[in-house]
Amino acid sequence: MELAGRLARIKPSSTLAVTAKVLELKAAGKQVIGFAAGEPDFDTWPHVCDAARASIARGDFRYTAVGGTPELKNAILTKLARDNGLEYEASQVIASCGGKHSLYNALQSVVDPGDEVLIIGPYWVSYIDLTVMAEGVPKVVMAREEAGFKLTAAQLDAAIGPKTKLVIINSPSNPTGAAYTEEELSGLGKVLAKHDVWVLTDDVYEFVRYDGERPRHLAAIEPSLAGRTLVVNSVSKTYAMTGWRIGYTAGPAEVIKAMATIQGQSTSNPSSIAQAAAAAALSGDQSRLGPMVEEFQHRRDYICERINAIDGLSVAVPQGAFYVFVNAKGAIERGGFKTADELALAILENALVGLVGGTDFGSSEHFRISYATSLDQIERGMDNIENWLASL
Ligand SMILES: Cc1ncc(COP(=O)(O)O)c(C=O)c1O
Repeated sequence: MELAGRLARIKPSSTLAVTAKVLELKAAGKQVIGFAAGEPDFDTWPHVCDAARASIARGDFRYTAVGGTPELKNAILTKLARDNGLEYEASQVIASCGGKHSLYNALQSVVDPGDEVLIIGPYWVSYIDLTVMAEGVPKVVMAREEAGFKLTAAQLDAAIGPKTKLVIINSPSNPTGAAYTEEELSGLGKVLAKHDVWVLTDDVYEFVRYDGERPRHLAAIEPSLAGRTLVVNSVSKTYAMTGWRIGYTAGPAEVIKAMATIQGQSTSNPSSIAQAAAAAALSGDQSRLGPMVEEFQHRRDYICERINAIDGLSVAVPQGAFYVFVNAKGAIERGGFKTADELALAILENALVGLVGGTDFGSSEHFRISYATSLDQIERGMDNIENWLASL
């Protein structure tokens, strides 16, 4: 018996694959340092865990409404107004099983076979496969490294064509950490306003930024986009809740209803207990966020300094998320490798540091390091990489 043909068009997530390899080596007794996983190494906040316990204590053991409890929807509405200057009604938001699930449902709802989805590269690996699973055609427009991996308004304008159905904007970005300023978003917004396309903003790293900027949301800067913008977010990165699996989307009621139909025929509601926790995270005290971001900033500063001191590697200091997308051209050439993926694999096997080659992010000359791990681990990992590269 054969598997369905669609499997030939999608591939497993390369970040999860490296993470699995790291775990495998660790299980075999090797002292591997993981720079691959894209999740905060902090614990979920105590009051959020308390909310989950309270949910169990009061017996939230049944299905909830497919798109989320009224409590969670209210918390999402409060958050969008408070943090993003966006006003929605309950019919315009839906909670799903993580941001990735929100993206899946969103793309299934607006992309028809053959529609182009414009993806800004370097891009998060899953955008391509999520598009392909919706039978859309990923169209990548690369942002230039010299421009801090940010796309200019002119580049965006030139890239949107007659078949473009949806444009995905991810700021701060995985894998580059590029974070658009309000002025830059305004430039992109003006271009998007001219074209008849859906816009999807992936805001999962919105709070992890180091430039002191808190830009308004694209849909608030350019209100004419609000009726065709899907705002996707998640509690995973902001609240160190990757395992709880709660993401959400806000947008026009007809798209949210379509997403609920898809969700109702696939997963139904996200976990009732995780919903209670997410509601507490979104509507409760936010004061732990600042220290977490400060800690990430220390690590970013340290890791960038170390990388730029290594012959053959370079990185421009990014303004957001917890990744650096390292230009490894020199090291690739020196070591006789073909791509950064080969180099990353050699680093894993020889220096015992797990990082993800850049090909699946759109560049075979870069690799991605996640610095969502302790400074001590970062120091040891960078020592290992530096020593091994020096031996080439
Ligand atoms: C850019 C981006 N969007 C969305 C997600 C999805 O996160 P989650 O499904 O944990 O909410 C991730 C996770 O790595 C991401 O990097």
